[in-house]
Amino acid sequence: APFGVWPEALALAQSEIPRQDGVELSIVIPTFNERENIIPLVERLRTALVGVAWEVIFVDDDSSDKTVDVVRSLSLGDRRIRGIRRIHRRGLAGACLEGILSTSAPIVAVMDADLQHDETRLVAMLAMIRSNRTDLVVATRYGGQGSSEQGFNRIRQAGSQMAIRIAKRLLKIETSDPMSGFFMVKRALIEELAPKLSQQGFKILLDIIASSPAPLKLGEISYVFRPRIHGESKLDASVVVEYLGLLIAKWSGDIVSSRMLLFGMVGLSGVVVHLTTLRLFLLGGLAFPVSQAIAMLIAVISNYTLNNALTYRDRRRRGVRFLTGLMLFSALCSIGVLAGTGVSSLFYSREPQWWLAGLAGAVIGAGWNYITSSMITWRR
Ligand code: GDD
Ligand code: MN
Repeated sequence: APFGVWPEALALAQSEIPRQDGVELSIVIPTFNERENIIPLVERLRTALVGVAWEVIFVDDDSSDKTVDVVRSLSLGDRRIRGIRRIHRRGLAGACLEGILSTSAPIVAVMDADLQHDETRLVAMLAMIRSNRTDLVVATRYGGQGSSEQGFNRIRQAGSQMAIRIAKRLLKIETSDPMSGFFMVKRALIEELAPKLSQQGFKILLDIIASSPAPLKLGEISYVFRPRIHGESKLDASVVVEYLGLLIAKWSGDIVSSRMLLFGMVGLSGVVVHLTTLRLFLLGGLAFPVSQAIAMLIAVISNYTLNNALTYRDRRRRGVRFLTGLMLFSALCSIGVLAGTGVSSLFYSREPQWWLAGLAGAVIGAGWNYITSSMITWRR
């Protein structure tokens, strides 16, 4: 088994080293500017997990409030506390994945750092996984005694319910809280699924459930979602857009990736920007060639900025790199336009069907732009 126990290694661990029990449960906590929450959270975990062989792994995306410094100081006095600092990367799902893959504990839990999740439920969740009747336990706000009223305002509550309904409809997912950021799972399962999981966005649980080839044995434990006291929520409009992208990607059986979809949506928005500005300049009395040139420039800048903020959010270019990226993007897109024009003219000379030729050119141009954006402008 690729991710199972390696007999020789196990024998070595059991013979030459004085007997010492390993960690059974690793709690992975993604953080982004959560400095104030670390100490109270660790205190609560210590109390909640008496008698369990646990560790906690904070995965911090280089928070400006130096969250990781607090973690490092705690680590000095307690080996169960670990910190991973990631540089130039953002993403809740990717951070969780990295934390999970950095441990050898057989069972992992994911929870938020902001004290909104009820850590006293961890022991019951652990008991369910140990019983071997479940692969994954979801802590739910929408089943049993659970609730989200205290932690969410009305708008977020309605949004959350809507997202759940869409997920259940589209993906036929059988859990009352597929958006939960609080769950426990056997690590072996994630080791297997890891190459398929998205690094972007908030919806790691949904992704795990939707990506598993065999249906998972799911369990649920309810809890009351608490209000956030320190710091603020990082869920913004782009997280919502990413979520919709993930749903469509999974729904299509991963034929279209969410990145491709976002790129396409940004491209369409570019057409709207182009036509609107063109019309405005013409109304303003500018000559057509001049208006067309300026409109095209504005559309390219708008596409670049949106792709940088959404499509390639995890590889975002900043400062001087933002400007050099814009130049790269414009240069590559002009080649795309030329290639598309070439293909459609060729097509038209053989098959004089204007819309078919136009479509062929558009597909080639868009394909070129997507591939060069992914491989050059926003290469990893
Ligand atoms: N490393 C890292 N990188 N951590 C992040 C990032 C990131 O880019 N973005 C957010 N986090 C961390 C936060 O610091 C926090 O510990 C946790 O992820 C959850 O973020 P919040 O910003 O507090 O999310 P929320 O409370 O608005 O959303 C809650 O409900 C969602 C469903 O409605 C969370 O439980 C989500 O996990 C859940 O999907
Ligand atoms: Mn929160």
